[in-house]
Amino acid sequence: MPNPGGNHGAPRVLRSTGLSVAFDGIRALQGIDLELRHGEILGLIGPNGAGKSTMTNALTGFAQFSGQLEVDGHDVTGWSSHRLARFGVRRSFRAVRLFQGMSVRENVEVAALGCGMAPAAASRAAADALEAFGLLDHADSPAGAMPYGHERRLGIARAVVAQPRYLLLDEPAAGLNEEESDLLLSQLRVVPQHFDCGVLLIEHDMRLVMGLCHRIHVIDHGRTLVVGTPRRSSLRPGRH
Ligand SMILES: Nc1ncnc2c1ncn2[C@@H]1O[C@H](COP(=O)(O)OP(=O)(O)OP(=O)(O)O)[C@@H](O)[C@H]1O
Ligand SMILES: [Mg+2]
Repeated sequence: MPNPGGNHGAPRVLRSTGLSVAFDGIRALQGIDLELRHGEILGLIGPNGAGKSTMTNALTGFAQFSGQLEVDGHDVTGWSSHRLARFGVRRSFRAVRLFQGMSVRENVEVAALGCGMAPAAASRAAADALEAFGLLDHADSPAGAMPYGHERRLGIARAVVAQPRYLLLDEPAAGLNEEESDLLLSQLRVVPQHFDCGVLLIEHDMRLVMGLCHRIHVIDHGRTLVVGTPRRSSLRPGRH
């Protein structure tokens, strides 16, 4: 989408400044400065309980926070999840809520229509997203009959067809077997360029993170430990 409502010349970045979240006295996030740039895959990593999911929730309007949130030069602090989604900050949920009675293709087309695309454009965009996630061969199958791994990819196809500026994925491969997981993550590689967005990826498999992410942001106990680029020399097959 040609940057709807965007500021010409504004940096294309989703940026949190001093983002903090507390739950009943538990300080889950404490002043996180995070930058997710357009065109990149940013890996958000850290041990269990570090605050990764809380960060995703805050960035997509599903958790209240203090601090500031900015998208492509717009201050979006305090926006609801719906408003952020309409503005192009989207996420995919692990439990994909499909329209069971519709085909795989229709499920993606509906998502495209739902964000205002005309029918012909929605149909083209759906076919493109289905192809990117290896689902074209299943396009006319009932969505309810999809294997688990396919269903997860269908959920992400539905998210990208809505032309997000930023797509946030919290362990998208969790619960998939190794083959399905490798396939899904390899398909994510093309998303930033092909779908013209930035991707934030939470994933525990460091081999995959290092192979896929342009930059990584490491948090623990709700604070940033380090932000940097992965060492590609450690990515040879078989090394972990
Ligand atoms: N709704 C909630 N109410 C209270 N505490 C919460 C809530 N959600 C998260 N927390 C706490 O906030 C901290 C961060 O949790 P979060 O789920 O964000 O971690 P995570 O990095 O996603 O962990 P994991 O790798 O296990 O998914 C933890 O201490 C967790 O117990
Ligand atoms: Mg989590």
